[in-house]
Amino acid sequence: MHAVERYVKRGFDMIESIRRAYTDLEGDYAFVIGRADDERLFALKKGSGLVIGLGEDFTCVSSDLPSILPLTRRIVRVRDGEIVALRHGSVEIHRVEDGRVVEREPEEDNESMDAAQKGGYPHYMLKEISEQPKAAQDLVHLLEASPHVTPMIEAMTTARHLYLVGCGTSYHACLLGSVYLARLARRAAIPVLAPQFIAQYCPAVEPGDVGIFVSQSGETKDVLNAVEAARGRGMRILGLVNVLGSTLTRESEVYLPLACGYEISVPATKTFTNQVVAFLALALRMGRHPSDIVAQVPHLLEKTLEEVEPQVRALEPSLKGHDDLYVLGYGLTYPIALEGALKLKEVTYAHCEGMLSTEFKHGPLSAVTQDYPVLFVGGPDNVPLLVSGINETTCRGGRAIAIAEEDPRLQVNAHDLILLPQAGALLNPLLATIPLQLLAYFHGVARGYDPDFPRNLSKTLTVD
Ligand code: AGP
Repeated sequence: MHAVERYVKRGFDMIESIRRAYTDLEGDYAFVIGRADDERLFALKKGSGLVIGLGEDFTCVSSDLPSILPLTRRIVRVRDGEIVALRHGSVEIHRVEDGRVVEREPEEDNESMDAAQKGGYPHYMLKEISEQPKAAQDLVHLLEASPHVTPMIEAMTTARHLYLVGCGTSYHACLLGSVYLARLARRAAIPVLAPQFIAQYCPAVEPGDVGIFVSQSGETKDVLNAVEAARGRGMRILGLVNVLGSTLTRESEVYLPLACGYEISVPATKTFTNQVVAFLALALRMGRHPSDIVAQVPHLLEKTLEEVEPQVRALEPSLKGHDDLYVLGYGLTYPIALEGALKLKEVTYAHCEGMLSTEFKHGPLSAVTQDYPVLFVGGPDNVPLLVSGINETTCRGGRAIAIAEEDPRLQVNAHDLILLPQAGALLNPLLATIPLQLLAYFHGVARGYDPDFPRNLSKTLTVD
């Protein structure tokens, strides 16, 4: 703002002032600037995403395409080194280089508008949770026919080192993807948070290494920074992305779309499920296993939604008054514990920590007092370990809530049990995600919060 104002005060017009400021500014950004006595707004970006929407009698600008689509489907993508002057009925793009006007035809975004409607649900979050069977079905079909799966697997197979990189929920999918790849394809893959990838692994990256960058939006700045750093070291960039046309789709040598449609609610739900489904499908294919197990996912998700909703509704009031809780998991369910805890804290504003169940006794167990809630996400292959963790909690007066398939040992030891359909160890994590999403949703609503737009958060984080 001041960088531009400096030139305005010297008598330059807005375009010229912004051009001059552009060369002064360092780092990445996307912003809009205006003058009280000028009807135009000016938008520019470097590194970050920026999209213009052209409506019937209005124009708009956003760093996040899905936020524009409920208003208009005609869009113009802004590139680095461009200044866009928006009037209420038209836009003009100027090159920073020489100020000249650039002609660019608007694109039509034809993705279904259904995502932008609540479709009878009180919130997008509940709608998107309910859409998971259909989204998974769409992805399964897409993966069967996609020409991009084979080159992706070839790159993963021949990689010197394989990294799975993301932030937040997408990182949790990377964690689970890494377990699937080790178990099913005997392939070690390093899951890592995008900024930590730069700090920790980038210096060791060499040509021949491959990274799968995972992002719902494809615009998360932390992820794009990691892409840039990785490319600088010669890494091959692969993507798992939901928003087509996003920066990550353009930066990836090969990418798989998540086929979820737009996800409007800030808490990611259906895109997490499809990230996990995509990793499971890749791991099965890479390990030369039959893929019938993936075909079961949509039906099992549907069954889980039906069966767990009443159980979660019954459990939710008992969390009232608790502002601290833990979610524990192990092996395949460890990423689900992290994801469930993220959903709970994001939507309910309670402090909720996800953790490897075996780490609980190494310190956090001291938090447990009478009725202190601890949720255990159990896989059918680790029931004895689960029972041991439950007993560590209950013998200190804590309240153990297990989310698992039916097992008499859990029925005896846990205070509450949310029963999942029998699906086996590989699919259990996908199903266990659903009650945690629903618990976060119902509890957040009961606490009086809007689950779709939690305070202080935005859907797409385009800043460092
Ligand atoms: C998830 O509920 C969060 N809103 C957040 O952690 C999100 O997953 C993260 O910001 C990464 O976003 P991306 O998948 O669009 O890159």
